Amino acid sequence: MIFDEYYIKSLIRSVNDWPAPGVVFRDVTPIYQSPKAHRMVIDSLIQRYVDTEITHIAALDARGFLPGAVIAYALNKPLVLLRKQGKLPAETETETYDLEYGQATIEVQRGALDANDSVLLIDDLIATGGTLLAAATLIRRLGAHIYEAAAIIDLPDLGGSTKLQDANIPTFTLCAF
Ligand code: PRP
Ligand code: HPA
Repeated sequence: MIFDEYYIKSLIRSVNDWPAPGVVFRDVTPIYQSPKAHRMVIDSLIQRYVDTEITHIAALDARGFLPGAVIAYALNKPLVLLRKQGKLPAETETETYDLEYGQATIEVQRGALDANDSVLLIDDLIATGGTLLAAATLIRRLGAHIYEAAAIIDLPDLGGSTKLQDANIPTFTLCAF
């Protein structure tokens, strides 16, 4: 199936002043409610990363888990969970960051990756880039290489994808608002 950016963008709903005044929230849930759109998005990402050197998928809690798990399954690669604070047992590495509407902390389990690994980071959306930048910091702290950070949507006006590229994190998104 050919990726149809116009079709995918037509499904994404814009909700004004949510979750805070002044924010225009781009809601991706209609993509998951449409089997055709879901397949189009996932298949495009699989096509991009099949036959590459990636060894692991790392997915962001919570919305990154949806595409991340399916892509890891399809590519037959290990899936590393980057979780919000307090959810992962045993020894973790931790990073706190700013979001468009707040602050958060994510964690990864020590030993989940090492210097031999080339990681594809997956999330649903790039806004300020704070989440993927924190994820990349954790992956690099474990010694692994970042192959690319991928998301379905970029919000370029919020500067996140530029910030990621400035930090030498190759970035790929399927569409932008
Ligand atoms: C959202 C989204 C990304 C992040 C993007 O997650 O799913 O992870 O914000 O924003 P940023 O580029 O400014 O960091 P959120 O923290 O709302 O959590 P959720 O996935 O649990 O809903
Ligand atoms: N949509 C979804 N997630 C987000 C957004 C948005 O507009 N901004 C920051 N995280």
